[in-house]
Amino acid sequence: MPQTSREEREGPRTLAVRVWRGREEGGFREYRVPAQANQTVLDVVTWIQRELDPTLAYRFACRVGMCGSCAMTVNGRARWTCRTHVSRVAGPEGRLELRPLANLPVIRDLAADMTPFFDKWAKARGRFQPKDAPDGAVPEEFHVVPPASRQRREADAGIECIGCGVCYASCDVVSWNPDYLGPAALNRAWTLVNDVRDGAQAERLAAVAGDAGCHSCHSTQSCTEHCPKQLDPSAAIAGLKRRLFWDTLLGRRA
Ligand code: SF4
Ligand code: SF4
Ligand code: FES
Repeated sequence: MPQTSREEREGPRTLAVRVWRGREEGGFREYRVPAQANQTVLDVVTWIQRELDPTLAYRFACRVGMCGSCAMTVNGRARWTCRTHVSRVAGPEGRLELRPLANLPVIRDLAADMTPFFDKWAKARGRFQPKDAPDGAVPEEFHVVPPASRQRREADAGIECIGCGVCYASCDVVSWNPDYLGPAALNRAWTLVNDVRDGAQAERLAAVAGDAGCHSCHSTQSCTEHCPKQLDPSAAIAGLKRRLFWDTLLGRRA
């Protein structure tokens, strides 16, 4: 029977954690962190900041997978860190390498600047605009949207996005073309294209049809593979492409 090491049986006692320090220019610093049962990657970062280096910059809020603020690059892959257990990613030797999210400017250390990410939501017309009240006034009556309708189901499939940026950091097209709107903004646009209460459809479809829009997607599905909420932005983007195709074929676009 093959012998197993203590680390393989019980896990490591200490984690070796390399953490990015600095801005775009910077380097890794290594820390030793006691391993704990059920420890998350965010727990490790918080321990380093509280016990070893109070100057370490990082971001989190909810710690339960709701706010989307804690995403980082963990051993080369974008992940939400408050719901990523160390035991799943550190291997038998207990090694972690932490960087800020890719495809975004670095503020400092592990904090990426999300401004370009959310600017693209605005460019994709990712804000709900009520049909009855283009000036922002409260509509007089509520629309009734049957839960089983096709459009409601299409919108529901993408609505749980928490804006974590994991898909954006995992998308090769974003890294080649910084203008590309990216999976989350296009996913958001698709939920609104399917929202029968929304009154900005023509502008939104024009916004996502441009050079930086859905036609730039290469359908590699990294966004879908990495989304921690198990959403499918690549399917949403395919939906936008289909919609634009039919609108063009049927002469519904100006
Ligand atoms: S499917 Fe499109 S949006 Fe998603 S990662 Fe690939 S290229 Fe990016
Ligand atoms: S689509 Fe998924 S990975 Fe992308 S921002 Fe939303 S929750 Fe995060
Ligand atoms: S801290 Fe809110 S999703 Fe991780």
